[in-house]
Amino acid sequence: MTVSATLAANEAIAERRAAGLEVLALGFGEAGIPVHPLLSQRLAQAAGRTSYGPVGGLGAAREAAAGYWTRRGLPTEAGRVLLGPGSKPLLYALLHAVGGDVVLPKPAWVSYAAQAQLIGREPIRVPVSEGEGGVPEAEAMEAAVKAARAAGRDPRVVVVTLPDNPTGRLASERSVKALCETARALDLVIIADEIYRDLVFEEESFPSPASWAPERTVTTTSLSKNFALGGWRVGAARFPDSPLGSRLLGSVLGIASELWSSTPMPMQHAAAYAWSDPQVLVDRVTAARRLHGSVANAVAEVFTDAGCAVAAPQGGFYVWPDFGPLRERLADRWGASTSPELARVLLDAFGVVVLPGSAFGDDPSALTLRVAVPGIYGSSDSERLAALVADDPVAMPWIAESLDALREKLAALVAV
Ligand SMILES: Cc1ncc(COP(=O)(O)O)c(C=O)c1O
Repeated sequence: MTVSATLAANEAIAERRAAGLEVLALGFGEAGIPVHPLLSQRLAQAAGRTSYGPVGGLGAAREAAAGYWTRRGLPTEAGRVLLGPGSKPLLYALLHAVGGDVVLPKPAWVSYAAQAQLIGREPIRVPVSEGEGGVPEAEAMEAAVKAARAAGRDPRVVVVTLPDNPTGRLASERSVKALCETARALDLVIIADEIYRDLVFEEESFPSPASWAPERTVTTTSLSKNFALGGWRVGAARFPDSPLGSRLLGSVLGIASELWSSTPMPMQHAAAYAWSDPQVLVDRVTAARRLHGSVANAVAEVFTDAGCAVAAPQGGFYVWPDFGPLRERLADRWGASTSPELARVLLDAFGVVVLPGSAFGDDPSALTLRVAVPGIYGSSDSERLAALVADDPVAMPWIAESLDALREKLAALVAV
């Protein structure tokens, strides 16, 4: 197991900066906004909670997470919720608890495949519908699962991401319903990673798989993205109210007891507050959503203007340009004909840090990149806070400068 591609990109940035070289850091999936003072206050107030807590989480935090989901249209009892130190270990515990082979959308967030490999399984990758992201196309999934079973493999679970990292797209209700029906017919567990759920740019009905396949969908969330608290490490999983759900919950609880014992207690106090949706934090997430949406759209436009194919971002803080239309030029001028080669040219010749689509399971020849936009929100908390509250974030001088720099670098990259 090598260091996760996202963390490796972070190290590349540190090295270039240490060498005094310019960097446009668009690699790492950090939300890039300062912590809300009320969350810091809750955390500090609970600093004395130094004992191990209950393995599944404090009652108050589980209640709050249940309320969070109930208010979002998924009625939830606190007893169906488990907390963990981030959603990532919960996802791993889930894959372990389900056992068997793992079906993933192509592309998909880096760590699902790595986690599948940790439990000894090569993922079965299924393309997403044209222009969508995060949810395998149902008919292709049916064919892939049947072929895998015929070949003696044992697919038991599909992971979906709504909205998606890396593509920034939100799967359509049609795709999600079809996925749910097919998963039921194939008897697959659905893991719905909804960590970016509160960061969908346009208010619209959210296509949660748990609405259509309630008996088999486990949903995960955390504070890492909407409140930019990745380093605090607190997440939650919602289990179905079904025999399958009870079995998985018991199994994940057992794994948790041997891996992390309990979620850090001070974090749980902060999370209990955040998941109760106080208006002041709802406003904070609304501001974050606006910032991500305006910068992601501006960045998408820069890549489009350079000649890439880019589907408009719909949620989260990622853009997924496809340099396919520029393939010949990139091969002639830079000798780059795969996404890792393209990402390497952007880093070495232009100081632009992005991740190649291949890190997310896309074909290396596809020339796709994942661009994480919070890297240009500012270089200090005061700049990032100003961007967060700005009416027009892309007009903030440092963001506008970064967008101009990106525009110039891409123009030089694709110049004939
Ligand atoms: C799609 C997705 N799921 C899960 C995670 C993990 O988040 P955490 O463990 O911080 O809750 C991330 C973080 O990058 C992510 O992008």
